[in-house]
Amino acid sequence: MAQLPDKVVSLLEGGHMFWVATASTDGVPNIAIKGSGAVADSEHVYFADLFSKKTRANLEQNPIVAIGIHDAEKHVAVQIKGRATLSDSGSLYDTVVAALKIRAPHLPAPKYVVEIAVESVWDMTAGPNAGNQLA
Ligand SMILES: Cc1cc2nc3c(=O)[nH]c(=O)nc-3n(C[C@H](O)[C@H](O)[C@H](O)COP(=O)(O)O)c2cc1C
Repeated sequence: MAQLPDKVVSLLEGGHMFWVATASTDGVPNIAIKGSGAVADSEHVYFADLFSKKTRANLEQNPIVAIGIHDAEKHVAVQIKGRATLSDSGSLYDTVVAALKIRAPHLPAPKYVVEIAVESVWDMTAGPNAGNQLA
């Protein structure tokens, strides 16, 4: 497990989309955008599974995930790699359902909350540090 650096937590708290990459066990990759992505704690991030098809199918067979987050205004981007757990109950699930009801009442309740245990964090900002490990 890795700790999210403070500057990465600040980026994640900026409301940017999570670009979530998953893969099936036979290696077919998939990308989905998740607007519900956020920080759970210093070692976990999450998103709400509202409409996932291939993302959910992939995570049910292969929990390894990569997430890209880009702040277009500040020209900063990071990649988080980790392992996902799908939950349809529990305190994080209840918190996310309650928050989404207020923030986006037109959306259905999420089927799952996908919590990702952070294993590494990588710099994706263009420049000399691109590709370097941050955590
Ligand atoms: C701006 C934007 C935000 C989105 N946010 C979410 C989200 O928070 N949760 C979700 O399940 N799908 C969300 N989607 C839909 C996914 O990107 C995607 O279409 C869905 O997971 C189905 O694709 P898949 O079969 O590759 O999983 C969003 C799409 C857009 C364009």
